[in-house]
Amino acid sequence: MVPITLQVNGQEVKAEIAIHERLLDFLRNELKLLGAKEGCGHGECGTCTVIMDGQVVNSCLILAVQAHGANITTIEGLGNTEELHPLQESFIEHGAVQCGYCTPGMILSAKNLLDKNPHPTRKEIQRSISGNLCRCTGYQKIVEAIEAVAEGRKGR
Ligand code: FES
Ligand code: FES
Repeated sequence: MVPITLQVNGQEVKAEIAIHERLLDFLRNELKLLGAKEGCGHGECGTCTVIMDGQVVNSCLILAVQAHGANITTIEGLGNTEELHPLQESFIEHGAVQCGYCTPGMILSAKNLLDKNPHPTRKEIQRSISGNLCRCTGYQKIVEAIEAVAEGRKGR
């Protein structure tokens, strides 16, 4: 077991973890943050997306020990049922959520884009979610939901 300390959604977390434990399993099993999900387990689908030190990462490909000292944001760090993040509101309003399995990863990829580039082009939006697969929506509504926030039609 190895001790790690990291920031998760603005809170300091200290834990003892197995050296081979993936960040995805640490977040879900130890911290009970269930927004990041396992899809492929191989870095292909993006359902396990989190933001780590300002970069979108697939938490299925990262060991929890690699997150020692890092700053992690999961979907639980954005909004809650009383106060949704503008991207969450916009996804609902645009019908960009169907089964919802891809949604946490999509929203985190979009958030990371808008944090760095508040007024992206449609192409930049499409590129930002290119690592997030969605089997339900056909992507168009997702892109429109992100565009609405980028264009200030939803507050941020
Ligand atoms: S579960 Fe991590 S990329 Fe698919
Ligand atoms: S809403 Fe079902 S996978 Fe995207």
